[in-house]
Amino acid sequence: MACHNIMILSLLAVTFTLVIAFEPSPLQDFCVADPTSSARVNGLACLDSKLVQANHFFFSGLHVPGNTSNPLGSRVTPVTVGQLPGLNTLGISLARIDYASWGVIPPHTHPRATEILTVLQGKLFVGFVTSNPDNRLISKVLGTGDVFVFPVGLPHFQQNIGTGKAASLSTLSSQNPGVITIANAVFGSTPPIADDVLAKAFQVDKSVITRLQAQF
Ligand SMILES: *[C@@H]1O[C@H](CO)[C@@H](O)[C@H](O)[C@H]1NC(C)=O
Repeated sequence: MACHNIMILSLLAVTFTLVIAFEPSPLQDFCVADPTSSARVNGLACLDSKLVQANHFFFSGLHVPGNTSNPLGSRVTPVTVGQLPGLNTLGISLARIDYASWGVIPPHTHPRATEILTVLQGKLFVGFVTSNPDNRLISKVLGTGDVFVFPVGLPHFQQNIGTGKAASLSTLSSQNPGVITIANAVFGSTPPIADDVLAKAFQVDKSVITRLQAQF
């Protein structure tokens, strides 16, 4: 009997962990984000449903390539709750990414979302790194129509290795996936992380850290 109870408790513990790892299910048909509300909820407050229009569920322009004239040679066009208020509470969002022939999306994580990437055009080298202690790089070359998944929270990157432009479309399991670009977080925080901490972390001289901090 005691053994049976322990089994039920463990099952409940596992279920609870799984449940809190994902966004909660909606409690109504929709909850269009009301950006003007000052109410603090997990997500955004709901607009009065009498004021809701088709345009709250609509976004236009994802066919337009993003401008990749920047040092990374890439551009993310997000369609999250910020651009599409109808996504509020629904636990999903999208992004189009364009890559110049030399473009990259540098190592980054989404703290709140798993990402499924589909290559629309071109050839991408993509990968993610597993957590400690393995830190294993799992990577693959993708062509048009190929799909790859980046599990929630793991650092990942994309690189155009084709001869021309590339484009991909990502679906993310959060209305607000968030992005932590590793280099910006480590070397570009405000205020900065102390240089002796970073010098020890990266096992380099402080002057190397100062140079990196100046870049981000
Ligand atoms: C792309 O961005 C660059 C740099 O900001 C700018 O000079 C250029 O005019 C933009 N191109 C287009 C087509 O908007």
